[in-house]
Amino acid sequence: MKDTLFVNIGRIVGILPQGAGRLCGKEMDRVQTLDNAWLMVRDGKIDSFGPMDSLGEIPSGIVMDDLKGKMLLPAFCDAHTHIVYAGDRQREFVDKINGLSYEEIAKRGGGILNSADLLHNTSEDELFAQASERLEEMISKGTLTMEIKSGYGLRTEDELKMLRVIKRLKKNYPVTIKSTFLGAHAVGREYTGRQDEYVDLVCNEMIPAVASENLADFVDVFCDEGFFTVEQTDRILRAGMQYGMRPKIHANELAVSGGVQVGVKYNAVSVDHLERTTDVEMEVLRNSDTMPLMLPGASFFLGMPYGRAKDYVRAGLPVALASDCNPGSSPSCDMRFVMALGCIKMRLTPEESFNACTINAAAAMGCADVVGSITVGKKAAFIVTKKVMELGFIPYFHHTPFIDKVIA
Ligand code: NIG
Ligand code: FE
Repeated sequence: MKDTLFVNIGRIVGILPQGAGRLCGKEMDRVQTLDNAWLMVRDGKIDSFGPMDSLGEIPSGIVMDDLKGKMLLPAFCDAHTHIVYAGDRQREFVDKINGLSYEEIAKRGGGILNSADLLHNTSEDELFAQASERLEEMISKGTLTMEIKSGYGLRTEDELKMLRVIKRLKKNYPVTIKSTFLGAHAVGREYTGRQDEYVDLVCNEMIPAVASENLADFVDVFCDEGFFTVEQTDRILRAGMQYGMRPKIHANELAVSGGVQVGVKYNAVSVDHLERTTDVEMEVLRNSDTMPLMLPGASFFLGMPYGRAKDYVRAGLPVALASDCNPGSSPSCDMRFVMALGCIKMRLTPEESFNACTINAAAAMGCADVVGSITVGKKAAFIVTKKVMELGFIPYFHHTPFIDKVIA
């Protein structure tokens, strides 16, 4: 991006001071704004901003962009996605409509294993083409920082194929991408009934192979009923950490799994899902740096309970929200819809929901110092809206187009 001076910004939304990190409890209900402003971007970063009447002489050689009274926000951050997958699972969608549960579909060999079969038969180039289309949709919807997982390979070569696709996405798009190795998303077909041997494969073969190509920032495990136990999760997280991958896990989606505890034990950057939690998990998270991350799109799509986001905020904890975009439990990457579900279903205020989708989501990827707010020194990654509006209009009119353009 060329050095640019944005002028006549009707309102800047989501300003935070330098050094501010994640927001907790009551802090989440505040979103700072500045009306009638300018903002300067230099070297792809926010250099300075202020009220229009403070704008001094305009340096030569700078691109001017007159926003004509529109509103500028930090782009959404999506801290949990599975957008690299092959084909779709539309037939299971119909199975679900006809009454089968997510667990029933998984048990009869559908679900994640179905996606693994499809992925196995898809070339890396084709997979890249399909994932690119999804990433472009995310960008058009205002998400410019995202985490993307492997986990539909379940064989060493196929896991590497997915992670190489993520690496190519990083190279080809002007967005910030964090990659996560999720070999323990399900037990690969060849290992049916031999789950511990599959865990050995993940620890002894997959993780070293992934690390040797430097393909993953985080290591993830689906620690839940019918998937991986706490003991297996413990082993896999430790193996990943030995190779420099920080934990970031799936927990408490299907049952109170113990996943939160094992995540916090290893200082996970976030523990994700949390549809089923008790006060015990909340207390475990309270004294940690681990971000509780909830995925209301999965609750919506699978008809599960929503995470107790409001209770977390009331208890003084931080909360982040993400799309979980994937073909089985949340086939939408729309963070504005996630923000709306945060308000409508989780009773977060628009401010709390917005912070959960920006600064706290950035913290759930370990990059709250780089993105997630309008702060001097952070990356220029913005949404420009069609006009100035109250923040609440974004989740309230939740399907009316509101983005004029995104600036990456
Ligand atoms: O986050 N819960 C586990 N993994 C995904 C679903 C993956 C799938 O069904 O393809 C999730 O919901
Ligand atoms: Fe997920």
